[in-house]
Amino acid sequence: MTTVQEATSNPGAPGQLTGEKVLVLDFGSQYAQLIARRVREEHVYCEIVRHNLSAARIRELAPMGIILSGGPASVYEQTAPKCDPEIFRLGIPVLGICYGMQLACEALGGQVASTPAREYGRAHCRISDPDELLSGLPTEMEVWMSHGDQVSQVSDQFRPLAATATCPIAAVRHTKLPIFGLQFHPEVTHTPEGARILGNFLKRVCGCQGLWRMGDFARQAVERIREQVGPSRVICGLSGGVDSAVVAALIYQAIGPQLSCILVDNGLLRKDEAGAVIQEFTRHFKTDLHVVKAEDQFLQALKGKTEPQQKRQIIGHAFIDCFTAEAKKIQDARFLAQGTLYPDVIESGAAADGPAATIKLHHNVGGLPAELGFELIEPLRDLFKDEVRKLGEQLGLPEEIVWRHPFPGPGLAVRCLGEITKERLDRLREADAIVVHEIKAAGLYRETAQAFAVLLPVQSVGVMGDGRTYEDVVAVRCVNTDDFMTADWSRLPYDVLARISTRIINEVKGVNRVAYDISSKPPATIEWE
Ligand code: XMP
Repeated sequence: MTTVQEATSNPGAPGQLTGEKVLVLDFGSQYAQLIARRVREEHVYCEIVRHNLSAARIRELAPMGIILSGGPASVYEQTAPKCDPEIFRLGIPVLGICYGMQLACEALGGQVASTPAREYGRAHCRISDPDELLSGLPTEMEVWMSHGDQVSQVSDQFRPLAATATCPIAAVRHTKLPIFGLQFHPEVTHTPEGARILGNFLKRVCGCQGLWRMGDFARQAVERIREQVGPSRVICGLSGGVDSAVVAALIYQAIGPQLSCILVDNGLLRKDEAGAVIQEFTRHFKTDLHVVKAEDQFLQALKGKTEPQQKRQIIGHAFIDCFTAEAKKIQDARFLAQGTLYPDVIESGAAADGPAATIKLHHNVGGLPAELGFELIEPLRDLFKDEVRKLGEQLGLPEEIVWRHPFPGPGLAVRCLGEITKERLDRLREADAIVVHEIKAAGLYRETAQAFAVLLPVQSVGVMGDGRTYEDVVAVRCVNTDDFMTADWSRLPYDVLARISTRIINEVKGVNRVAYDISSKPPATIEWE
């Protein structure tokens, strides 16, 4: 996660063109990034900082508002993360959410106690005093609660604004200072009026006009990269996915020919993918591209391996070997650019030590060893996938790249269940190309988040002509999701499913059965391995 101290690697750090900025103080909430994103959706620039940033530093950064995030701790615990209490005296509007509200109320004379039963889920909230924060909302609304503690008593400097059946102080404001609190989470979609509440805070309370646009992010990112990189060379790994393409485009805009890209063709890409990436790349960037043809090396290393995590590890190591060998050939490279996005970053929850983040192991097979000595540039670290797409459009990348469905780092290896051989991969590639083609032809590609084929390590009996067959089964997976953390299977029209099935069975040699995966995530995952 980006902190102000680390702000040199964060293109969105202070100094916005519009001057409107809000800080989110992170107390270890799983929703801190979501809060930041919701603020950006209101066109106000937002940045996540450490919970214990000093009031003096915050004054220097001059935000128009401060949001205190939720967090897993209890404010009455000795080790609970606290903010500098002076922030409440800066005159800058503060909105405390869940733990953040408890912290603000406690700091200003209120009491926080654990609730008899942890409240998790939807609750019915009744507004008693809309004030500015809840202005224009229905008197009764649904909100999303997730807490074990709540404010049991406020000092007479506070005025309750809303309550639920079990939480008598569900929203509150200070009578003299611009300090507000919400026990529920306005940032999640389960609080339908949440965006309006955050909008009220930003516009009515903080006085923001909402002038920030994704174009500002791109300009700031470019400026910051220039500043950080100077005359040095930057290496960027290309995968064909939107994230690495957007990172490359940003860096290219910043430093043009000082960018070198490496594409490792591991033989696990989709049909014709490597060629398409090279073609797109050379059309848009006039810079140094290194293609490492490594299919044999990967397939050799994967021979006989069927266990998913082992496959991932082997691929991760082979990737590092190939990438490192190629990177060493590039003179004067000092920086490595990565397209890490927010969903790749898992909160450690160790709020007291600052918002350290770890990367999901299995989502980061390309994690390169520190010994390489590169300084990292991760300009997309705070963004969600759809924001990256908006940025890609801003940067003028073609629709084909911007809207390409995400593809896992270990590629088809985790969609080719069982042993990986060239023959099985080719079979899978053919089936997969049919799935994608038919989804596109039906105009459903943008509506669906991921659509692909999976080759199962199972044969089934069929009949073709007069003969009995005993051949492979292909599963089709197609999901809808915004954040890839939860997903639902796509309700594809029967005729599209029928075309996919008929074409795969007719056109892909060795397949006689197609099944459609109707599992949601959770409890299933999007990929089969
Ligand atoms: P799951 O299968 O965990 O996938 O529901 C969620 C999203 O992550 C992608 N994914 C991966 N991406 N390396 C990656 O770079 C991986 O090992 C990996 N596994 C899953 C998956 O395609 C989906 O978009």
